[in-house]
Amino acid sequence: MSKPPLPSLLPIPPFTRAADGTITLPGSKSLTNRALLLAALCAQPVELRGALFSEDTEIMSAALRSLGVHVEADAARCSFRVAGAGGILPATTATIQVGNAGTAARFLTALCAAAGRGVYRFDGVEAMRRRPMGGLLEALTRLGAEFRFLGQPGCFPFELHARGLRGGTVEIDARESSQMLSALLMVAPLAAAPLCIRLVGDVRWPFVAMTLRQLAQFGQPTAELAARPAAEFALSWGRPFTAPSLYPIEPDATAASYFLALPIAAGGSVRVAGLPEAGESLQGDLAFAGALERVGLQLSREAGALVSTRVAGAPLRGIDADFNLYSDTFLTLAALAPLLEGPTTLRGLTHTRKQETDRVAGMAAELRRLGQDVVETEDTLTITPRPLLASQIETYHDHRFAMSFGVLGCHDLRANGQPWITVGNPACCAKTFPDFFEVLAQLRAHSHPMSTAPDFITVAIDGGAASGKSSTSRALSERFHLLHVDTGAHYRFVTHQLLERGVDAADESAVAAALAALPLGTRLAGRSSLIEIDGRIPGEEIRGQRVNEQVSRFAAVPAVRQFLLAYQRSQAQVARVAGFRGLIMEGRDIGSVIFPEADFRFYLQADPVERARRRAAEGQTDAIHERDRLDASRKTAPLTLPNGATAIDSTHLSLLQVVDQLGALIAPRLGATTIPHLP
Ligand code: CDP
Repeated sequence: MSKPPLPSLLPIPPFTRAADGTITLPGSKSLTNRALLLAALCAQPVELRGALFSEDTEIMSAALRSLGVHVEADAARCSFRVAGAGGILPATTATIQVGNAGTAARFLTALCAAAGRGVYRFDGVEAMRRRPMGGLLEALTRLGAEFRFLGQPGCFPFELHARGLRGGTVEIDARESSQMLSALLMVAPLAAAPLCIRLVGDVRWPFVAMTLRQLAQFGQPTAELAARPAAEFALSWGRPFTAPSLYPIEPDATAASYFLALPIAAGGSVRVAGLPEAGESLQGDLAFAGALERVGLQLSREAGALVSTRVAGAPLRGIDADFNLYSDTFLTLAALAPLLEGPTTLRGLTHTRKQETDRVAGMAAELRRLGQDVVETEDTLTITPRPLLASQIETYHDHRFAMSFGVLGCHDLRANGQPWITVGNPACCAKTFPDFFEVLAQLRAHSHPMSTAPDFITVAIDGGAASGKSSTSRALSERFHLLHVDTGAHYRFVTHQLLERGVDAADESAVAAALAALPLGTRLAGRSSLIEIDGRIPGEEIRGQRVNEQVSRFAAVPAVRQFLLAYQRSQAQVARVAGFRGLIMEGRDIGSVIFPEADFRFYLQADPVERARRRAAEGQTDAIHERDRLDASRKTAPLTLPNGATAIDSTHLSLLQVVDQLGALIAPRLGATTIPHLP
């Protein structure tokens, strides 16, 4: 799963009009990962439709593949085709990375422990090594599995020696995570004899009910068990897992919480398509809608959609609510509590201190940063609204922080349309909802009437060295509120990084190898998008003589161009989610290769003598003719006047004249509207 193209810090553009739109959510994470496992236990192929494609389901499906299960993914159709082996794991050895996916960690451990024989190595990321596993590992050990811990006892990493599950009666403590009980329930039918599972302490029931109801859909007689909370589960055994060849997955109810709550921040009305009625859904998190009604939003049904509306003039009040049974949604309400009248108290949160991060402590810290009065106990959080302060939000690698505060940021705090919340590492939403900020941006664009939110435009500016691309692009980005991307700086920074690593442009395989180790990111600075490599952004060093001499050599290497291609294209998305009205990108191949379909494609030219004069005036030593020669003669994406592009000769024009000429062409597409000013 590739990282979504989001900047490392994302300023959230507020809604300046009431929210109005219908959104379609990705599939439920909990249902997708359970269904992947259950489908892998069937003898007949099963297609999961409407499935979630995110980091957590990628981890699950990849692990099943490494266990020899055939899993075919079709992200465009949101479908997984799973061909299992009827309860037998084809691979008797495998190395399984569970990342920070709690479902994958618990479900796969139980699945492998149920294998007749095999040795499986498990590990997770640092945070996962600290998350609760003990209750499950103890139960599986009593049923016959052996764990050899390679780090802390009771934690990842470990080696699992499988000998099948014995059956009989076993106790499990699933207080810290209901996923441990769910995991055991799903593999219970594989035991050598009937299994009776006895609970020590209580468990958050909705997720257990979800598991039992899904098991029933996969041919196990557990429907009755799902009807009411119990402390003991006598499971039938030896029955084959079966399912309809097409198994539909419900949209994610936790993800729905962000959009159902959005009218608190933005007003208006949001329709979430395809969510079943609470009574018909497998997902307990739909109960969050009830909390929103108590706050004062109006929830209704309309043609299969759940609709959340803020009734004009109706007050929105803080509430006191126990979130224990649908705790993934507590962060959504906590983040919006500053906008409610009176304090909000959320209870039943103890177990969330051991999730992706300590969610209670994290929430308290971020809300305080925003100026709120927060009282935290082991199990509760009370937020008393105070005047909100602009702030940058830390997200602790926890997708739910990014999404919850993303919604708060939609509130137009200063009534000027300017961002006041910046979300750190927004890409962490890839865990369960890679397109979250994009969906939010689409809703924002849709909510604004066309006169103030015209279509998003892309502008490509190509031309030779010192042809005036940068100054022109900057001025146009300013005039029309477009995100400005200087791709020359991309090639320059990559060149600098490769030179630092002692790589020569002539050695293509060394270039390719070095590129593979360069993680790319984006940082927004005003209206510019800066490339990040390994967390660093380019500085003066990329305009030095060494880079000037070498950049065109590196830019001619196909691996370098390939490396930057997807990144450069992804900048359109960055511009969209950050609320720009378009993208202006300058370089040598923007109108020909990167955005051949751009709304505007311009090609700047100037007399070579004039260009040399401009470069010298900047005080740079730069053999621009030599670079132009290399750029125009290379095989991949050479500098050329793209077919159908508008050429402008700037030799005898001032910068303002060029900008006015291009601006006159662009302006009609954007309508006569006011342009937002950045602070
Ligand atoms: O500063 P100047 O306009 O001369 O060049 P730049 O835009 O900073 O680009 C530096 C070099 O990067 C160019 O000479 C090209 O070799 C390369 N480049 C490219 O190949 N393709 C692009 N889209 C942008 C730059």
